[in-house]
Amino acid sequence: MKKNFKLYGIIIFVVAIVILSISVTNFQKQSTMLRDEVFDKCKMIALELKHTREYLAETMAIANMEHNEATRLLMPAIAGNEIGKKFYNATGYRLRQVSSKYRNPKNRPDIFEEKALAEFENDKNLTEYKGVDEIESKKVLRYLIPLHIEEACLKCHSAKEAVPGFIQEEYPEDNATDYTFGDLRGAISVAVPIDRAEAEIKGNLIHMTIVTTVGMVFLVTFVFIAMNITIKRKEEKASS
Ligand code: HEC
Repeated sequence: MKKNFKLYGIIIFVVAIVILSISVTNFQKQSTMLRDEVFDKCKMIALELKHTREYLAETMAIANMEHNEATRLLMPAIAGNEIGKKFYNATGYRLRQVSSKYRNPKNRPDIFEEKALAEFENDKNLTEYKGVDEIESKKVLRYLIPLHIEEACLKCHSAKEAVPGFIQEEYPEDNATDYTFGDLRGAISVAVPIDRAEAEIKGNLIHMTIVTTVGMVFLVTFVFIAMNITIKRKEEKASS
């Protein structure tokens, strides 16, 4: 009987270890899947904003629009900021346009963005930079794509004296000038909080682990009792 209890203990222990390791592997797998999925979404969003910006810059150039106070809301970066704000309120995805030579101090890069910009500067073929970071003590995924100077950008980002007058007035500390075609101008930066989604995955898995463990303990106990009864009966039969 004592021997049997030892066996019971060992079986329960092994079952618990197996369930636990399956749960940990599952969590890692689901977390990786979540991250890949979110990074894919970030890429789409960043590309969408990039093309919207390009379209605005080209349209303003083709339509020969004057760059003044009235048309300022259509300028790529300003339109991008406004679209970003609406997008954030609707989805929680944070969208920014940053540059180490910023025109508006609000577009100054943070440490992660600075690293990304340095990588883009080092490697002209790099099309994205991503990673895990923390913003306001929340875990976030970050994703950046580079923005290079095209023909349509030069109107507002070439020599200081050549940029539209109202930009010179509005941004007296402007760093975003003297660019030439093909230069790295900055990046589109996306940040997405994932702590809630990860907590949800964790919660689901903990729930599943507990249910499976309790189920398995019942099953093993049942088999153990049935086995003991059978052995006892056999022993009784043999002795009688
Ligand atoms: C009509 C003028 C105009 C054109 C054309 C233009 N920009 Fe800008 N750009 C601005 C202004 C104004 C700002 C500052 C926006 C703000 O206050 O946030 C700016 C800011 C930016 C920023 C944010 C960082 C910073 O310097 O504050 C990036 C990145 C940028 N522009 C890239 C580009 C690219 C790339 C193009 C071409 C596809 C382009 N811009 C075309 C006027 C322009």
